[in-house]
Amino acid sequence: MVDASLLNADSNVTYDVIVIGAGVIGPAVATGLARKGKKVLIVERNWSMPDRIVGELLQPGGVRALRSLGMAQAINGIDAYPVTGYTVFYDGEQVDIPYPYKSDVAPVEKLKDLVKDGNDKVLDDSTLSTRDYEEDERERGVAFVHGKFLNNLRRIVGEERTVTRLQGNCVQILKNELNEVVGAKVDVEGRGKVDFKAHLTVVCDGIFSRFRKELDSQHIPSAGSSFVGMSLMNAKNPVPMHGHVILGRSHMPILVYQISPQETRILCAYNSPKLPSNVKAWLIKDVQPFLPKSLRPSFDDALLDGKFRSMPNSYLPAKQNDITGLCVVGDALNMRHPLTGGGMTVGLNDVVLLVKKIGDLDFSDRETVLEELLGYHYERKSYDSVLNVLSIALYSLFAADSDNLKKLQRGCFKYFQRGGDCVSVPVAFLSGLLPKPLLLTRVFSAVALYAVYLNIEERGFLGLPMALLEGITILFTAAKVFTPFLYREICG
Ligand SMILES: Cc1cc2nc3c(=O)[nH]c(=O)nc-3n(C[C@H](O)[C@H](O)[C@H](O)COP(=O)(O)OP(=O)(O)OC[C@H]3O[C@@H](n4cnc5c(N)ncnc54)[C@H](O)[C@@H]3O)c2cc1C
Ligand SMILES: *[C@@H]1O[C@H](CO)[C@@H](O)[C@H](O)[C@H]1NC(C)=O
Repeated sequence: MVDASLLNADSNVTYDVIVIGAGVIGPAVATGLARKGKKVLIVERNWSMPDRIVGELLQPGGVRALRSLGMAQAINGIDAYPVTGYTVFYDGEQVDIPYPYKSDVAPVEKLKDLVKDGNDKVLDDSTLSTRDYEEDERERGVAFVHGKFLNNLRRIVGEERTVTRLQGNCVQILKNELNEVVGAKVDVEGRGKVDFKAHLTVVCDGIFSRFRKELDSQHIPSAGSSFVGMSLMNAKNPVPMHGHVILGRSHMPILVYQISPQETRILCAYNSPKLPSNVKAWLIKDVQPFLPKSLRPSFDDALLDGKFRSMPNSYLPAKQNDITGLCVVGDALNMRHPLTGGGMTVGLNDVVLLVKKIGDLDFSDRETVLEELLGYHYERKSYDSVLNVLSIALYSLFAADSDNLKKLQRGCFKYFQRGGDCVSVPVAFLSGLLPKPLLLTRVFSAVALYAVYLNIEERGFLGLPMALLEGITILFTAAKVFTPFLYREICG
């Protein structure tokens, strides 16, 4: 039975904002704007806890965004598991990549009216400790069961006095004769299709968004690969509290990270959006042999159990919100490869910026809101483009399917092995703590040059002419997996 209070939203008032979707981003937008005094309607087609294999590892940059929004406790009380960095495996070798020092990063910004009564602090619970998050010298991320995290976000938004929650399937974005957005049509159980009016309609309908096309009919994601996921129970993780990235010349990248005291997620990349016909046989042939030994027992149990799920990995550069009364955020607006776990971090930081830009405006002044939204598109780039481009570039290298890419993959791993800045700068990008796209370009060039250098070294003196030729093609390949994406992010 659906809770009746989720079905009786008033359709005779004009809301300041209608938020469509209560995934990760919707509740953050609704909470932020409600705390700025806005009257908010948030529509979700199903408020019960979802069971998905997405959005399970939140980078430090995402934890910081939750703090800025006064929603840090969304990671409390759900058996969440702290994350202190990554370990990359390659050809029997491994390199640790701890998250950056807090002292190297600006302090967290506390948004006015949103942060109060310590809601920017992570609390003590059975798996997390305030001290670790507040006093550790390094930044931390966190991993969790996605549905439980969503439940927390949804509870927090429900506690806001000026928020009305509605369960229903949004079927249409309403427009006036000037093609401006004026609200949404929602199919509500027992009420049929009801029109709700608002000064601003925020679309957060996520990965499989139906309404992103309202921005532009060409705003369509492309999917080049997929992830096959399984749950490993009571796995013995090689490096506790680290995300594990398992790379190799002859297999696709594999991600392993613990999401609760009992459960570890494994995501195995498959280089096509369409799954192999026999998933189990593929896992046995192309994943199992490459796993660190300690993971084998839990992996073999999961294989026997046979419960795998898959998701397409989509890419979608953002588009400017240029329609009066409409704002698209989260995965509906912008997607990148999930390899680097940056989706929620991009989305939550977008919400922080959005609340800063429009939170104090009068939403009935739709022209001013639109003006701010136009500028918002450019301001979000420096933060988001780094995470977006990094995810695509790293996936190309880690899923290397040509000799040049394989050389770049090895170059990248060897680059990390050099330590110092060669580790601390890339991980600062990954964790969403270094929003500098031009610096990312420099680091990526350095990795490519290092791959060329290693190749020259390997070929030796007699192989020099060959190595120089190869060097050119390696650099060309590197430019090809990086530049077009950077260009689309920065200039789009
Ligand atoms: C395999 C995979 C792994 C990932 N892993 C990570 C990770 O580790 N870390 C990370 O940060 N990101 C990860 N991501 C990305 C992350 O999941 C997304 O960035 C995030 O979920 C986006 O949040 P959102 O609120 O925009 O969309 P969603 O979380 O998709 O939420 C959309 C919501 O809208 C609702 N909805 C949709 N249509 C309607 C409608 N018509 N009417 C009413 N309600 C509607 C849906 O029910 C849903 O609740 C991963 C993605 C994939 C594919
Ligand atoms: C809502 O989601 C729950 C849990 O995933 C599912 O059991 C239920 O059938 C869904 N309800 C509707 C109306 O789709």
